[in-house]
Amino acid sequence: MKKQLKKLFLFNRTTPVEYLERLTKQLAGPKIFIKRDDLTDVALGGNKVRKLEYILADALEKKCDTIITTGGPQSNHARITAGVCAKLGLRCVLLLSGNKKELLEGNLLLDKIFGAEIRFADSWDFEKIHLMMEELAKHLALNGHKAYTIPVGGASGLGTIGYAECFSEILEQEKALKVEFSRIVTANGSGGTQAGLEIGKAEHKSKKEILGMSVLFKKEKALEYVKKEIALGYEVLGKDLSLNPGIIIDDSYLGEGYAIPDQRVLETIGLLGRTEGIILDPVYTGKAFGGLIDYIKLGKINTSENVLFVHTGGYPGIVNMTERHKKYFENI
Ligand SMILES: Cc1ncc(COP(=O)(O)O)c(C=O)c1O
Repeated sequence: MKKQLKKLFLFNRTTPVEYLERLTKQLAGPKIFIKRDDLTDVALGGNKVRKLEYILADALEKKCDTIITTGGPQSNHARITAGVCAKLGLRCVLLLSGNKKELLEGNLLLDKIFGAEIRFADSWDFEKIHLMMEELAKHLALNGHKAYTIPVGGASGLGTIGYAECFSEILEQEKALKVEFSRIVTANGSGGTQAGLEIGKAEHKSKKEILGMSVLFKKEKALEYVKKEIALGYEVLGKDLSLNPGIIIDDSYLGEGYAIPDQRVLETIGLLGRTEGIILDPVYTGKAFGGLIDYIKLGKINTSENVLFVHTGGYPGIVNMTERHKKYFENI
């Protein structure tokens, strides 16, 4: 990557790549590896930390004292932003979708613990909420503050760069582990993680397949988002857009929709827990990993391949599952 961008260092290492030996044996398919981006240290970790390393460096460079962002009441992005702001001594205002009736649990409780100011937008329309955030920033400016707004999911050009960098990190780890991954699988929500990996792939002229398992949008919309974020990423890099010809997104594991885990998700969480001692979440990683397991069972991935799943975090979703979903684990 040519342009030198400002970056904060919020976690102190390369996140581990682990071979899931017991799971691989059980499925008798390709070798499955996992990149532990759930272990990015700050505020319980997750993929948003890599995004915030670039986004908040920009905010500090612009001498902002307040960060405004948004997400659902159980947003991992909001929780991590609140935690990182606490660490950096920045004021954090979360303008969350929904309304005050939301229960103070899971990520919302953590937002409070991290000292964020929580406001509810009384809307689920993020375009509208983004406008409200800009209004709030103007209002704070009148009172002598300089606010920096971050879109939902940290889906900005700078955020995307965090995952282009992650792709380079994966290539280094391949060398060290003497293994080659033919595919990288990740959950796709607002699209920035996949967009960043796609930029990394293009920059390195890599032939790896990147497979985004959509957990939020139907395929066409998810693709639109990824393309938009790739374009924003290239803008930040000051480069001309050189899109990969094939961006692969599968929405078959979306089930009934965002944050609604189906039986496959619960089974996948149980399976990873039992065989590898790894916790997946019911909103993102459980769904995406469930898709990967189905691909393996359907023989869509050759047994000679090495596949890498990027674990993007989301732990609080586990404790926040509905009683009905928790019941599944009572009976296994
Ligand atoms: C745990 C977790 N995994 C995956 C994602 C999806 O990442 P992206 O929005 O970059 O597609 C998110 C986004 O909120 C997340 O919180």
